[in-house]
Amino acid sequence: MSTAASRPTRPVPRASVLEIEAYVPGKSHAGPGVKVHKLSANENPLGPSPKAIAAFQSATALELYPDGSSTKLREAIAATYGLDPARIVCGTGSDELLMLTAAAFAGPGDEVLYSQHGFLVYRIAALAAGAAPVVAPEKDYRSDVDALLAAVTEKTRVVFLANPNNPTGTYIPFDEVKRLQRGLPPHVLLALDAAYAEYVRRNDYEAGIELVATCPNVVMLRTFSKIHGLAALRVGWLYGPAEVVDAVNRIRGAFNVSAPGLAAAVAAIEDTGHVDAAIAHNETWLPWLSQELTALGLTVTPSVTNFLLVHFPDVPGRTAKEADAYLSQRGLILRRVDSYGLPGALRVTIGTQEANRLLVEVLKAFMAGRETGDGA
Ligand SMILES: Cc1ncc(COP(=O)(O)O)c(C=O)c1O
Repeated sequence: MSTAASRPTRPVPRASVLEIEAYVPGKSHAGPGVKVHKLSANENPLGPSPKAIAAFQSATALELYPDGSSTKLREAIAATYGLDPARIVCGTGSDELLMLTAAAFAGPGDEVLYSQHGFLVYRIAALAAGAAPVVAPEKDYRSDVDALLAAVTEKTRVVFLANPNNPTGTYIPFDEVKRLQRGLPPHVLLALDAAYAEYVRRNDYEAGIELVATCPNVVMLRTFSKIHGLAALRVGWLYGPAEVVDAVNRIRGAFNVSAPGLAAAVAAIEDTGHVDAAIAHNETWLPWLSQELTALGLTVTPSVTNFLLVHFPDVPGRTAKEADAYLSQRGLILRRVDSYGLPGALRVTIGTQEANRLLVEVLKAFMAGRETGDGA
């Protein structure tokens, strides 16, 4: 038992909490007087559906608590994907659901496993739960099922797999995801984070609905922040086995999703025309930007998402850090990815036509060592 003399003089967070480096979001500002193109947080360049904006604006009974069960939204999601609404739980962005998943299934003495360049929130979620984060190496910036399975120990409780992954933009085929699930002990929860699923145009890709339907140890997480353009409202959802949904419901905030968020998300998921337009925009500009940047001599990791991981030469005057400064001055805000162990790269979101063209023009000048001078 601690004595009064040995006790701290003020409240002290748990040691694992102090191991967390707080998440640093993508930047959103540039020099004064420069038009900003924010390409740092994988947001939707088309914005949300006008119907979602109208629904948001009509949610004016701000004195009332929202529906704590997100009933209408769960029903709208279920109708869209052919799911059981009782097996869906909505959250304040999928971030909240990632945190709750770790908190419900892992704690001190346990391990939470994910891939080398996996989404940063997995580490935060593990440490916040008091569990130890464990990282499996990747091959060519792709999650490696063999490496993940080799890293599973007696202590593993949760495996997070972003498919496709942020910040790499790569994916693994559904057969590989199934192989991962088959290789895990039945008490280990596989959390498939499919934040970018809608952008993927590959026949061998599946977000995970089928696996959740057939396996008691798989959940899938989705978000309204990306294809639906509602990042400001913070809405995400989880589809999982009844026992997992029950556990997450026990520990989530009673009224976690706001009424304007719920209203906008229902309208967004029902506006399939807007979703199709966002997909079509990405299908045009993702290959275009990828080819143009490659033609400038940069290495671009093949992406199936709405962003690209761009690798810069390790040559003074051409580095990722210098490119970031050069681009920022000219209003092009990209994402440094040093915190993902990728100091030689920048992540760029597919933007509007104007932003994409400007990016290529400015990077061309940067790679040629030219000053564009006009801050364009
Ligand atoms: C892989 C991945 N998962 C989850 C999220 C979280 O999304 P949100 O909390 O906005 O739903 C992001 C956001 O960037 C992401 O890239």
